[in-house]
Amino acid sequence: MKVLLTGGAGYIGSHTAVALIEAGFEPVLLDNFANSHPVVLDRLARITGQTMPFEQGDVLDTPWVEDVLRRHRPVGVIHFAGDKAVGESVALPLKYFHNNIGGAVSLLRAMEAVHAQDPSTAPTLVFSSSATVYGDPATVPITEDFPRSHTNPYGHSKLVIEDMLTALCAARPAWRVGTLRYFNPVGAHPSGLIGEDPAGIPNNLMPYVAQVAVGQREHLNVYGNDYPTPDGTGVRDYIHVQDLAAGHVAAIQALLSRGESFTVNLGTGSGHSVLDVVRAFEKASGRPVPYRIAPRRAGDVAQCWADPARASRLLGWQAKLTLDQMCADAWRWQSANPNGYKG
Ligand code: NAD
Ligand code: UD1
Repeated sequence: MKVLLTGGAGYIGSHTAVALIEAGFEPVLLDNFANSHPVVLDRLARITGQTMPFEQGDVLDTPWVEDVLRRHRPVGVIHFAGDKAVGESVALPLKYFHNNIGGAVSLLRAMEAVHAQDPSTAPTLVFSSSATVYGDPATVPITEDFPRSHTNPYGHSKLVIEDMLTALCAARPAWRVGTLRYFNPVGAHPSGLIGEDPAGIPNNLMPYVAQVAVGQREHLNVYGNDYPTPDGTGVRDYIHVQDLAAGHVAAIQALLSRGESFTVNLGTGSGHSVLDVVRAFEKASGRPVPYRIAPRRAGDVAQCWADPARASRLLGWQAKLTLDQMCADAWRWQSANPNGYKG
């Protein structure tokens, strides 16, 4: 059974492709390499012993996406493709509205057109949403029925896409959509062959810490130590990308077997502070991670972690891997590939 992964060459898509193969699916990857590198395809072949079908192109190109769907006839689509840098989205909002919202509309129109010609299978979609849709939550842990808001165009784009999917499912009962709200994905495949390869200076904590440990950056700036948290630094729900990948397999299986749409959090249900991450990474790498306390980063919240009970109930999925394992795998990837896929 084929599953189409838009953005399949990216960080989460590549790990999900491996998990899908292990679960007996045939992933078909679609990507324009806007934020990924063709080398990932060789790495995936080394991990899985298989060459995955790959389609190079833009999800905004609706007729081409339709053609890809007609040729492969996937049982479902996982939509990862999009831009994800919060700071860039503030500077370039239209880029985010065009690629993220426009990309989703393009994919949905292609899926609808293919379904209209062959109504025998239900259009089945898993969408990469984010805990960013909860804005600044009033309390933690966060359940799926918390109010949603946005603080930047990236978050706004996720919210709009979620609303579009709700409207589409209301208008077209045949559609089955699983919306996955990821918390903070980190770590890498245990082989060290695939991992997160941010362009330029990393915005997110774990890749920055990894680059400090490997000696590429002098020190970490800890954005604030005066939050109302146990050690004053921000607390997040870091989730191993391998657990996240397993969550996508569980989501596709649930949509195919039960045929009901859902929205779930994918998180571990516990939070770790910035300094917890620094200490765990030092332990995993055996290297020091020097840091300096810096002012708070605009737009950051004090603490954010998931209530993952709904995902457990609906998908039979739970995160299993610890912060130590996240750091050990991130370190294996970073130390073996100090320049990412660029060699
Ligand atoms: P990524 O940038 O590594 O992967 C996205 C992939 O999509 C890239 O390979 C990129 O080249 C491709 N792409 C972008 N625009 C495209 C287009 N128009 N046509 C074809 N391909 C295109 O990002 P990721 O971390 O793997 O994230 C995947 C999804 O998960 C994104 O939608 C992101 O917003 C969402 N998400 C990520 C995180 C995170 O922390 N990584 C958290 C929450 C949600
Ligand atoms: C960020 C995005 C969020 C997105 C998520 C994807 C912002 C405001 N939010 O979340 O929309 O969905 O990435 O993973 O950008 N930190 C430091 N020093 C650093 C980097 C981070 O101290 O150099 C701290 C932050 O203040 C925060 C924690 O580390 O407390 C995690 O930060 P980060 O990895 O950027 O994730 P989020 O801010 O949770």
